[in-house]
Amino acid sequence: MSRDGFGSKIGVIAAAAGSAVGLGNIYRFPCELGNNGGGAFLLVYLLIVICLGIPVMLSEFVIGRSTQKNPIGAFKTLRPRSAWPVFGYLGVFCAFIIMAFYSTVAGWTLEYIVKAVGNQFQGKDLATIEGEFEAFHQVGWKNVLWQCIFIFLTGFVVFKGVADGIEKYAKILMPLLVVILIVLGVKSLTLPGAGEGFSFLFKPDFSKITGPVLVSALGQAFFSLSMGMGVLITYGSYIKKDDNMATTALSVTLADTLVAVLAGVVIFPAAFSFGVQPTAGMGLVFSTLPMIFNQMTGGYIFCIIFFVLLAVAALTSTISLLEVIVAYLVEEVHITRRWATVLASAGCMAVGVFASLSLKQGTSLTIAGMSFFDGLDFLSAKILLPVGAFFIVLFVGWIMGKKWFNTELTNEGKLKLSIKGVIFFIIKYLAPLAIAVIFISGFL
Ligand code: PHE
Repeated sequence: MSRDGFGSKIGVIAAAAGSAVGLGNIYRFPCELGNNGGGAFLLVYLLIVICLGIPVMLSEFVIGRSTQKNPIGAFKTLRPRSAWPVFGYLGVFCAFIIMAFYSTVAGWTLEYIVKAVGNQFQGKDLATIEGEFEAFHQVGWKNVLWQCIFIFLTGFVVFKGVADGIEKYAKILMPLLVVILIVLGVKSLTLPGAGEGFSFLFKPDFSKITGPVLVSALGQAFFSLSMGMGVLITYGSYIKKDDNMATTALSVTLADTLVAVLAGVVIFPAAFSFGVQPTAGMGLVFSTLPMIFNQMTGGYIFCIIFFVLLAVAALTSTISLLEVIVAYLVEEVHITRRWATVLASAGCMAVGVFASLSLKQGTSLTIAGMSFFDGLDFLSAKILLPVGAFFIVLFVGWIMGKKWFNTELTNEGKLKLSIKGVIFFIIKYLAPLAIAVIFISGFL
């Protein structure tokens, strides 16, 4: 069977960066940072990204490209008749879980596009904007409707296939998002009282570093880079045999980190200036941003463009999540791409509805004292991704080994890559150890 592949080098980077850059950077990163001590969190986060980001990403790429398979098929090919494919299934399961709550927030971006076009933020104060956001969650059907529309859009792109679907959208719009974030960052930094927010973000208070903060940073790093659940194995399987995966991983990691830090620079100075608590969670983005636009010349247009780009960024991420499930269904269950897309989308909607509805006040949709929405977020980012990444590096480092890894990474010796030794050392020793220690420290 001939497989879809990415059309060009920039296509691979664009698609993988498209998966990485999304609500995780602009919505989830500020929430986690605000709730976990600000600058200290940023420091730990950056350390984890620098030390573990590229090695873990390359482990996934190598598994994917060497087998040309979805995560389950890949483990089955490399270690037939073993328990390893379990981690492929875990990845597909995780894609479902993430899709279910991620599509809730993605749906909000559509609601906010409509609000922005209708000029509904103009002249309102923070309390009113916050109140309206809260009130929106109480209208369950509206959240669910937007969420379903978003999943439908995702299914549409995924159905059209990898090359002319994902690539085309990601290539043009992601750079635009960076530009608009820079403009917003400049505006945010010049607001009165912005300095305090800037210090919150960049001045680490080391006493804030605790086990749970470490786990949050670890989970956020994996979540943001789309690592630990097979998205990158799947995308790796579409990478051409003569591409340089190391530079791809480096570009994706840099782009993703740049967007996250920029999002922080946009959100926190403004939040402190307007009096939004850093622990405000969802409101941090969905209330602070409209307030910035209110203060800007041309704010009306900027607001529309921003939320459109945010929706697109979310879309290139949901595409990658759905693609994992679809690739599995097509290649392992042997159903057509069309039916796989319909089935996967319907499944995500079925679970996702509960995530959306669980944000209503006084909801009974809770797990372990959290709303269903928060429960899915916690389960995926703080448990499934670290566990998945742990076993992926273990597999590459200890089961497949250095020779196999280096052969695939260097395109059978055609690339030099003098740092390959360091990368493999991290994969084999440092990454499993660091992930295990952080994971355990968070739950002790
Ligand atoms: N990395 C995406 C983001 O930051 C979310 C994501 C996580 C996508 C895991 C795929 C897999 O928005």
